[in-house]
Amino acid sequence: MVLPLFAPAVAQGAIVPLPTDGDVRLPQQSIRTFLNTSRPDRHTVKLPLAVLNTLVWRGLPTERTLAAPAVTAWVHGLRDADPFLRDECGVILLGEVASVAVAHPLYDGLPEVPYQYKELLGAIWREPLTGRLAPEERARTLASLLYTDPEGRAFTAELVARSGLAPTAWLKRLFAALLPPLLHFLYRYGTVFSPHGENAIVVFDDHDIPVRLAIKDFVDDVNVSAQRLPEHDSMPDDVREILLTEPPAFLTQFIHSGLFVGVFRYLAPLCEEQLGVPENEFWSLVRAEILRHQARFPELKDRYELFDLLVPRIERLCLNRNRLHLDGYRDRPGRPHAAVHGTVPNPLHLS
Ligand SMILES: Nc1ncnc2c1ncn2[C@@H]1O[C@H](COP(=O)(O)OP(=O)(O)OP(=O)(O)O)[C@@H](O)[C@H]1O
Ligand SMILES: [Mg+2]
Repeated sequence: MVLPLFAPAVAQGAIVPLPTDGDVRLPQQSIRTFLNTSRPDRHTVKLPLAVLNTLVWRGLPTERTLAAPAVTAWVHGLRDADPFLRDECGVILLGEVASVAVAHPLYDGLPEVPYQYKELLGAIWREPLTGRLAPEERARTLASLLYTDPEGRAFTAELVARSGLAPTAWLKRLFAALLPPLLHFLYRYGTVFSPHGENAIVVFDDHDIPVRLAIKDFVDDVNVSAQRLPEHDSMPDDVREILLTEPPAFLTQFIHSGLFVGVFRYLAPLCEEQLGVPENEFWSLVRAEILRHQARFPELKDRYELFDLLVPRIERLCLNRNRLHLDGYRDRPGRPHAAVHGTVPNPLHLS
């Protein structure tokens, strides 16, 4: 992609191939972020890939890429000034602390050029998890909880067995590790991450009991409320200009779709089959954790209505519709939005 599209710069020697540093790197589940396994304390590196995966081409848009460190600084600043997030949740936010992007000299100025040609050359350096865990802690992606081995045994069932806890007690600990930081960012700061199985990392103690959450993917995936909150006053202009916004009622979609629909919908039947926890009990534990969090911060009551996770029905995001009906494989000038089509009942709603 680079040779044909940046040929003049390559010919002039303005773009040169770098030699290898000799380190071995391992792609993470997103395929395009690499872990340095030779020196695990080094930053992970996120690169543009010219592949269309799920909804979008996996490039690094110039402006957004350059804004990554500023977005990180703002998100870190919120956590560092908030004793609940910092001390109680101990939430780990894997900051995107440095970035580089090369704009295409012609394409970036032409609105009609397909967006994937404007995101081809850049890198984001992200803090690794190494060094951020206590000695007894161990981290695994949220997606790993859905893994079932060739004999049909769920990884989650193995972790529950190792913990020595009753399944419902372990699930309570899981929800208590995952939800409070995500809920607090939503309710207090009108800010959401995209907490799907690949972006969310569960931290376990030495008994394989979930204790806290690590989360990554900020400049691409963080969204803030389009209805401005007083808590947004601390947001610098460069962050405000770049962060994606959504109306409050849609902001909750990130938790609904990413976590509840994308992960819990599959984890619930797995827990029913392998751990004997009925699905409705699974969901009532999720609901109880949300209500527990709300009771903890009564002063945010109006936010619970503004960002209502317990609505009777939730909208369906259908990525297949993007592929089959709306966007297909055609080129388009901008990144598509996930297709919203119809609604489904919300298992967290108490009828
Ligand atoms: N279990 C999973 N859940 C969600 N996405 C997954 C999963 N496993 C692999 N993926 C892939 O990971 C990517 C998730 O998209 P997302 O926008 O969060 O990440 P990214 O920005 O490409 O990379 P990174 O998370 O490393 O910053 C997609 O390419 C998707 O196909
Ligand atoms: Mg990701």
